[in-house]
Amino acid sequence: MPTPTVFSPDQSIVTTTPVADATLADSASSNSASSNSASSSSASLLHRPRRLRKSAGLRRMVRETVLSAADFIYPLFVMEGEGRKEAIPSMPGCDRYSLDLLLEEAKSARDLGIGAIALFPLIPDEQKDNAGTESYNSEGLIPRAVRALKEAVPELLIITDVALDPYSSEGHDGIVKNGQILNDETVAVLVKQALVQAEAGANFVAPSDMMDGRVGEIRKALDLAGWINVGILAYSAKYASAYYGPFRDALESAPKFGDKKTYQMDAANAREAIKEIELDITEGADIIMVKPALAYLDIICRIKQHTNVPVAAYNVSGEYAMIKAAAQQGWIDEKAVMLETLTSIKRAGADMILTYFAKDAAALLQGK
Ligand code: PBG
Repeated sequence: MPTPTVFSPDQSIVTTTPVADATLADSASSNSASSNSASSSSASLLHRPRRLRKSAGLRRMVRETVLSAADFIYPLFVMEGEGRKEAIPSMPGCDRYSLDLLLEEAKSARDLGIGAIALFPLIPDEQKDNAGTESYNSEGLIPRAVRALKEAVPELLIITDVALDPYSSEGHDGIVKNGQILNDETVAVLVKQALVQAEAGANFVAPSDMMDGRVGEIRKALDLAGWINVGILAYSAKYASAYYGPFRDALESAPKFGDKKTYQMDAANAREAIKEIELDITEGADIIMVKPALAYLDIICRIKQHTNVPVAAYNVSGEYAMIKAAAQQGWIDEKAVMLETLTSIKRAGADMILTYFAKDAAALLQGK
């Protein structure tokens, strides 16, 4: 005979809360002497995993992955102007903000318990060139935004993107010559960009460009300039993904020719992701990132098992847009799918998640 269960199988179907369980167990046992033991037909089942799913309280107690607002990094798009907020059609619910309104949005994120934001700029075409010169203008949009944010919401961590694409007339993450993306020449510009961002007050610089050797060069330059406490969140395993489409709409930064496959990773490769993170960690990355998240949960999982460095995952624009679009059609329950998706990314091993759902998810987790 197996060990008698406290609750009989049919009670487990009708009860939902621990209080109701206890009440029913009591009344049932007064009616039937056998209610606490398994009936002979089911006596052979020693393990009943459903026991641990019986009530909301029990499920909560054995839950392995718990999301919280502290897990989220909220990506925000900033543009020039005042009092301006522009919707991004392919990212319903996301806007580009002028600086003054960006501060309001950042405060509302902070009020929901979100601890960090990642900034991306919309740069006017006339400021773009092949070398991304505007990317290291100390009076440029991003340095001004960082200074204003640090003044208005000092407790919020600011992560700035290091890459040329928003500033590039070619829409590439590096300098283009004869149709090729130059590596070392680009790294020299990225270093200047990172220094300007650190000087403005960024807590983390986040190279998303996938040039070789950039993490080491940025680390050296930051240290030389005295920015020893400015961290590097490296987009280490960043794949050449079709899921970035809506983001490129948001920044008007799509490549003018070709694709990004000579620098971003091939979607088919997993071992190569380990090589990339090892290099970035050796070069001084504080946090490494996998991007996108959903089609790459296996990569997040492998990397987490491979390293003790914190792992970030980017739940990218296309992943966000798919959920929004299906929800708008009434085909899925947006809130439930959002939480399930974010939970899957954390369960795979992400210590933090960049997500456009940050505010919605934080509000929902707080019952708002
Ligand atoms: C570019 C960059 C991209 C994203 C973040 N930084 C796009 C790209 O590599 O083309 C994508 C983010 C998203 O899709 O949400 N350096």
